[in-house]
Amino acid sequence: MSTSAQPDRELAVAKYRGEASAYDRRTRVIDRYRRQTIKRLTLAPGETVIDVACGTGASFEVLERQIGSQGRLIGIDVSPEMLALARERAKCHHWDNVTLIAASVDEAQLDAQADAALFSFTHDVLQSPAAIDNVLAHLVPGARLVAVGGKSPSRWILPVHLVARRIGARYTTTLTGYDRPWQQLASRLDGLTVEQRALGAVYLASARTPS
Ligand SMILES: C[S@@+](CC[C@H](N)C(=O)[O-])C[C@H]1O[C@@H](n2cnc3c(N)ncnc32)[C@H](O)[C@@H]1O
Repeated sequence: MSTSAQPDRELAVAKYRGEASAYDRRTRVIDRYRRQTIKRLTLAPGETVIDVACGTGASFEVLERQIGSQGRLIGIDVSPEMLALARERAKCHHWDNVTLIAASVDEAQLDAQADAALFSFTHDVLQSPAAIDNVLAHLVPGARLVAVGGKSPSRWILPVHLVARRIGARYTTTLTGYDRPWQQLASRLDGLTVEQRALGAVYLASARTPS
C-alpha cells in the first residue's frame, strides 16, 4: 500500500474508491473501539456533533441514539464513494438530522458551532493542522472532542508492530506521526488524555476545548 510523507487527499480519494464497498465488513472488528470512544463524548439529546471524516457513517447509529431527533449530526468526508454509503445509511434510518459535507476537512464549510467532535480512524486528518483548526473553529467553548485510531505499537513486539503498520498503510495516506497520532491535537488542547488498547495498536484520546 502506498503512503507519502504528508496526508494526500487525492490519494485518499483513490484509495477509498476501492475500499468503500467492503469497508464496513472489513472494519467491523473496530466497532467496539468506536463505541468506547463515543461513550467518552457524553453526548446529550439535542446536541450537535461533528463526525470528522465520517466515511460510510459507521458511527452514526451510536451517535444518533445519544443526540436523538432534536440533535444534529454533521458528517464530513472527501471520498464520494464513502459518503454515498453514509447518505444511504442516513436515508434508510430516516435520520433527517444528518448533514453531509463532501469536502476535505481543511476546506469544509461548516454552518454550526458544535458541542462535540469525533475523529474516528482518521489519521490523515489528524496530521493536517489546517483540518484540525477548521474543526476547532466550529466547536463551542468547552466542547468535547475524542479521537480513536490505529497507531504504531512498541517495536518490542515486532510482529504486532509490523502488522499494525501494514493495516495503517492500507487505510491512511501517510504513516508520518503514527507513533503519536494525537500529537497535533495535544499541542492545541491542554489536558488531552490518551489510553491505549490492543497491545498499543489502538489509542483513544479525549479532551475539551477551553471554556
Ligand atoms: C479509515 S476511514 C474512517 C471512516 C470513519 N470515520 C470510521 O470510523 O469508519 C478514513 C476516512 O477518512 C477520509 N479522509 C481522508 N482524508 C480526508 C480529508 N482530508 N478530508 C475528509 N476526509 C478524509 C477517507 O475518505 C475515509 O473515509
